[in-house]
Amino acid sequence: MKGNNQQDLFALAYISNSIYKDEADLKKANDDIIYTCDLKNKITGVTGLLYFSHGVYLQYLEGEEINVLETFKKISKDHRHSDITLIYSGRTSARKFEKWAMRFVSNRHYVDNLFQQITHFGFAKGQLNPNNKHLLETFLKMI
Ligand SMILES: Cc1cc2nc3c(=O)[nH]c(=O)nc-3n(C[C@H](O)[C@H](O)[C@H](O)COP(=O)(O)O)c2cc1C
Repeated sequence: MKGNNQQDLFALAYISNSIYKDEADLKKANDDIIYTCDLKNKITGVTGLLYFSHGVYLQYLEGEEINVLETFKKISKDHRHSDITLIYSGRTSARKFEKWAMRFVSNRHYVDNLFQQITHFGFAKGQLNPNNKHLLETFLKMI
């Protein structure tokens, strides 16, 4: 896989709010996003996780730094979500979602508690401390 050289590996995570309230609009938006992720990330070698729960996205992107950053730049301009808040970015030694162009998971009760800590309490805007990095790691392992 492109970008599997350990020195190149980079990851970032952000949270955002979907703009859709209507269930059918939401489903259509998520289906379209998943389709695009599959198509584009297979070309750029980006892998990761897109978690969606209660109108909130948490996405973890990993791959070659330039590809992760360019993908995030596009995502940041996407009108289907708002209040995009970067919660983590940095070098990483190995991929966590190697087999997935973008694994999509939604509304898992057993991870929602942790998810809510991350989205509402665990992270101050733009800040990262060892505790919330640990929280994110735990969340990603639970999925
Ligand atoms: C929550 C969310 C997650 C997304 N994740 C990805 C992604 O992982 N990879 C990607 O290429 N596009 C993703 N997109 C779509 C991009 O914002 C954008 O629409 C797409 O990359 C279009 O690329 P293009 O300008 O090259 O056609 C996501 C959009 C949203 C709203």
